[in-house]
Amino acid sequence: MRSLVFGLLFIVLCVGLTHAETTEEDLLVSPRYCLKEITKSDERIRSHGYPAETHEVTTEDGYVLTLFRIPYSPKLKNQNAERQPVFLQHGLFSNSDCFLCSGPDNSLAYLLADAGYDVWLGNARGNIYSRANTLISLNSYKFWHFDWHEIGTIDLPAMIDYILDLTGYKQLHYAGHSQGTTVYLVMLTERPEYNAKIKSGHLLAPCAFFEHGKSFIFNLLGPLVGTPGGVWNQLLVDSELIPHNDLVNRVVDNSCNAASSICKNGFMLFANGGYENANVSSMQVLIETHPAGSSSNQGIHFLQLWASHEFRQYDWGTKKNNELYGQDLPPDYDLSKITAPTHSYSSNNDALCGPKDVDTLVSKFTHLVEDHRVPLQSFNHLDFIIARNMKELVNDLIVERVQSYD
Ligand SMILES: *[C@@H]1O[C@H](CO)[C@@H](O)[C@H](O)[C@H]1NC(C)=O
Repeated sequence: MRSLVFGLLFIVLCVGLTHAETTEEDLLVSPRYCLKEITKSDERIRSHGYPAETHEVTTEDGYVLTLFRIPYSPKLKNQNAERQPVFLQHGLFSNSDCFLCSGPDNSLAYLLADAGYDVWLGNARGNIYSRANTLISLNSYKFWHFDWHEIGTIDLPAMIDYILDLTGYKQLHYAGHSQGTTVYLVMLTERPEYNAKIKSGHLLAPCAFFEHGKSFIFNLLGPLVGTPGGVWNQLLVDSELIPHNDLVNRVVDNSCNAASSICKNGFMLFANGGYENANVSSMQVLIETHPAGSSSNQGIHFLQLWASHEFRQYDWGTKKNNELYGQDLPPDYDLSKITAPTHSYSSNNDALCGPKDVDTLVSKFTHLVEDHRVPLQSFNHLDFIIARNMKELVNDLIVERVQSYD
């Protein structure tokens, strides 16, 4: 019953936001955000005592993406040493802060910097750090006409090429969380020439198959928007999905016992799975910039995967599929094309991308090097970025694996 109410609330919110008025003030500061009021990733990095740089990359279709960089570790003073680049990519509704929010002793970005790496944090089109386009206005529905297929085929290659050009390296290490793993799979299957640019890949809570997804979001919204052509699709397509605003943050999660600001946050609610391992201070940091903005098409595409049990491109319905793909159904992403050495780190209590769906992914991923399952049963989807014990259970392993390639 509770999930039904949540689901309906989500729908009302999404529809409401699709038709939200935009004022002139909204146009000046990015709509519904005021970046002046939040601590941006570069300031956060500096506040932790590390050097930070901000870089902008413009994609071939005009999106201006912000990359943050921790070029070296002040603990190692290795600014003049060889530093292999590592690239970190966030998940749905998220941004670069997800790899910083637990601070220098726990978060992956700092652990990699302290291991001697040149750490780069990506931001996908549409999130608070990547909300500009040189060709399309942010307020046009065309701005939001993308999903994680474009993030994988356009944004990732653009960011990776930028980093390799600037540093002079031929390869980088990649780590992604949640949708940050989906886009990795999309890039390497759709643009297989990028396999050669990945020295090693690390997938945290890998998401490609959703047949067994337990989150209430699947059962509620899946039947409504998981198949093309319905009225809900018409209403929701090409719009911004649950942005960071007061309206969203008023949704209350009854299962949450942390501070009310955390419990009322739409991002925390979405990634539900209990708070047993969560670091409450880290969640407090995270909600400042989450949910971070994404296109409704990203959510719809994930729900399509839940409904179809396949890992394939966006389903526009038979007519448009035939125009775009030359077939009735969207083509699968062919995982056998991935040759970059890749490690998977998944957990049992993941309500979005759970163990059975990871089994499916592993069975189709011919070149997967390692299928690591976090031994703690309660570890969930969000714990990969906010758990008190994520350093021992996950991040230390990643650093060790990354180093084994150098
Ligand atoms: C919890 O998060 C806070 C805030 O970022 C951080 O300072 C602290 O080290 C974290 N602790 C653990 C065990 O993750």
